[in-house]
Amino acid sequence: MNIRVYKDADSIGAAAAALFAACVTQKPDCVLGLATGSSPIPTYRKMAELYRDGAVDYSGVTTYNLDEYVGLDHAHDQSYYYFMMENLFRHINVKAENIHVLSGIAPDPEQECRDYESAIAASGGIDLQILGIGRNGHIAFNEPADSFAPVTHIVELTESTIDANKRFFASADDVPRRALTTGIGTIMKARAIVLIATGADKAEAIRAMAKGPVTPRCPASILQFHPNVTVMADEAAASLL
Ligand code: GLP
Repeated sequence: MNIRVYKDADSIGAAAAALFAACVTQKPDCVLGLATGSSPIPTYRKMAELYRDGAVDYSGVTTYNLDEYVGLDHAHDQSYYYFMMENLFRHINVKAENIHVLSGIAPDPEQECRDYESAIAASGGIDLQILGIGRNGHIAFNEPADSFAPVTHIVELTESTIDANKRFFASADDVPRRALTTGIGTIMKARAIVLIATGADKAEAIRAMAKGPVTPRCPASILQFHPNVTVMADEAAASLL
């Protein structure tokens, strides 16, 4: 695990966007794994800037997002699809047919999960995956559990995650209780991973991820077993290392 400490979120965004630019430049038809949350926003802003400047062409790229809330359709302003459109997709030239986000309103959510896992494999697997991290060490929506989830599946969100995400909804009661998420196994198959964390409220999760035991009680700790992980943290998030 390669841990790099930066002075602020914008410096992290520039560094992470440079990794994406390298990936797309070396392999124009690469497959990118994308995340939501506040952590990747500066990265997406910089990726859009690189497109506007003519430095990066995303026309051959395929994308897969990590997760989606159950019950929210793509037009819902708190759906992760909507988030991705607003923060990245409508600012770059990725083709609509190459964008993949799990559907929160699929009539058969289990089939939706199986189809998503198959689609990632059929695309050749993810070349570069960006991750945030939850305060409880979750990645995507893989919450602390008794075992590492191998594939895309349906999860019950923990109170800690509902509490952290309620700021985006009118009240905690409006936060969906369930989500569809790629599995820990899905994430671990990515060829390269960059995990972004800023702020003191992520410090304990970053410590447990990097220095604690590898355990499904801290899902992100599995990244210690991945051969190509770059952690980009600000000083507050890295303060317990
Ligand atoms: C949500 C997402 C995760 C994200 C986490 C942290 O739970 N499902 O993918 O990493 O929030 O979000 P933030 O970056 O806003 O702290």
